[in-house]
Amino acid sequence: MSFDLRGIPLDATAARTLAAKGLEYRLVDTSDVAAATAWIAADFRGFHHARPRQVSVDYDLAVIAERRVQGVYDPTISDPAIPVATVSSWPTGLSVPGGRSVDAWAVSSVTVSPTHRRRGIARALMLAELENARAAGAALAVLTATEATIYGRFGYAPAARAATVHVDRRRTHWIGPDAPGRVQFVEAEDLRRIAPALARRAVARTPGEIDRWPGILDRALGLVDPEGEHSRRKRVVRYDDEQGNPQGFAVFQVVREPNEHGVVEFDFLAAATDDAERALWRFLVEQDFVTSVRGLLRSVDEPLPWLLEDPRAMTVSDVVDHLWVRVLDPVAALGSRRYGTAGTLGIDVTDPQGHAAGRFELVVDERGRAEVQRADGAGAGAGGSTASSTPGIRLGVHELGAIFLGGVRPSVLARAGRLTLSAPRTAELADRMFLGPRTPHLSIWF
Ligand SMILES: CC(C)(COP(=O)(O)OP(=O)(O)OC[C@H]1O[C@@H](n2cnc3c(N)ncnc32)[C@H](O)[C@@H]1OP(=O)(O)O)[C@@H](O)C(=O)NCCC(=O)NCCS
Repeated sequence: MSFDLRGIPLDATAARTLAAKGLEYRLVDTSDVAAATAWIAADFRGFHHARPRQVSVDYDLAVIAERRVQGVYDPTISDPAIPVATVSSWPTGLSVPGGRSVDAWAVSSVTVSPTHRRRGIARALMLAELENARAAGAALAVLTATEATIYGRFGYAPAARAATVHVDRRRTHWIGPDAPGRVQFVEAEDLRRIAPALARRAVARTPGEIDRWPGILDRALGLVDPEGEHSRRKRVVRYDDEQGNPQGFAVFQVVREPNEHGVVEFDFLAAATDDAERALWRFLVEQDFVTSVRGLLRSVDEPLPWLLEDPRAMTVSDVVDHLWVRVLDPVAALGSRRYGTAGTLGIDVTDPQGHAAGRFELVVDERGRAEVQRADGAGAGAGGSTASSTPGIRLGVHELGAIFLGGVRPSVLARAGRLTLSAPRTAELADRMFLGPRTPHLSIWF
């Protein structure tokens, strides 16, 4: 997806709604350092972070230069240059089952000042972002959420989970196969040169991951503020295959905790191959002079227990909904991924905001490739509507987002009364079609 981020006009409905409350909705010129810095200050305050140091401001200025940045301003407050609400967005690839990617619209930095809460400001911004996403040609919008109760009303649903993985070092007797290559320590600056390519390959393997932007790699590697205490703690290891080609890397630190030798903590592991994944896990869990290992934002379906003699050495906590998906164009979204089995499914979608509403027909061939067409007249392909004998499901856009990556089975939503099946046996077909070979997972915040 390539287009001028600032070419999309400011959403007129949001501008009108906010103007009626005495507020100004503006596109922030990110090259205007004063305006962009004020926006960053509001973003930090909105998330209850400490005031940013200059090094963080400089980092954020570079990141938001690649984004569509909007603020809401109240001309009556004592410092009207600081927005009372913020939002940013950008086009991104979202990995979907089958090693493919779909054009998505990432939404971030949604904050409203506590002084202006619950006046409908976030609602105006979120509805505008759906329009922006459509104008950009995205099939769906994605975000991560601080609270699980905010975004369902705008059609977003949890689509990929993440968890904290704990490993008891004393019980990590490795029984998995040896990876043929080797793990070695490398300097962050050296790794940074190959990080984009490795990250791209790792992201492509996992439905639910989104494209990494340059700034997130800098931050993960501790290059934003290299002399800061947090960065200096970071250690970087790279896995090379037996030919010496880099296939993955991890960034970790050893933290001291009461009554512990040390805890290996990591929140960035990019593996482009299974060997790399196993070798990096082994390195992380086999260190001496530590008592445990903690992996943040890991998959709920890690292979690690199958690599250890004592699978109970690994425990999982903080399992959370992490990636939220809002389908906007069911034809493009459903057509982008591969499916688990051949079949034909009618899909009736309701959508309070209208974007994804309609009847669609999903036809999957023996290789899992999909053909999707509207079947409700509006823009319907040849044939117009789905035959009444076609198995079908009826669901809201929220539920469509939830099943899209295979993170929850349609039959579970049917049991919860959130999805209607044309016949009981349709559950099995829908489950088998939507299930992907890999559990969806998102391993970063955005
Ligand atoms: C979340 C936040 C942006 C909401 O802003 P807001 O302007 O107060 O929200 P609105 O007044 O537009 O509310 C829109 C709807 O969402 C609901 N809502 C808003 N925040 C909510 C929350 N934290 N929990 C549950 N519901 C929430 C409102 O009740 C309202 O519901 P309705 O329109 O269906 O009646 C704001 O509280 C905030 O900045 N929080 C701290 C930062 C944060 O967590 N941001 C989210 C980043 S993912």
